Amino acid sequence: MDLIAWSDDIKLGVPSIDAEHRRLMDLTNNFLAAAEDEALMPQLAAILEELIEHTRAHFQTEERLLDQCSYPQLMAHKTEHTRLLNETQRLHDRFCQPEASTSLALEAAQYLQHWLLDHIVASDKPFRPYLMRLG
Ligand SMILES: [Fe+2]
Ligand SMILES: [Fe+2]
Repeated sequence: MDLIAWSDDIKLGVPSIDAEHRRLMDLTNNFLAAAEDEALMPQLAAILEELIEHTRAHFQTEERLLDQCSYPQLMAHKTEHTRLLNETQRLHDRFCQPEASTSLALEAAQYLQHWLLDHIVASDKPFRPYLMRLG
């Protein structure tokens, strides 16, 4: 599995949001690298905890900005954030179970990469023009 590389496809051009997305991307890459190194489950759970913490903070920042610029899709966007956080939390909880394995870790890494990239490209990019108007 490949690490996610930062590219113009992911960049929104809003520096604060881009910096947070990069941080989430780094954590997702750390998780994949640890999974491929067959890291111990508590180590993987710890990376997921950090990812969840940063994701929660990022979603809050984003929602506050979207509220300020009266983004019309804010409610749908919030719902998606809640779903992604809940799913990632459930994934984290599976790493605290005795049946957690390296194959679960690789599956989880793939899931995290997909949600991060899909969410940024399909759901975050459309709010760019609204944020630009905030200045
Ligand atoms: Fe978002
Ligand atoms: Fe985002």
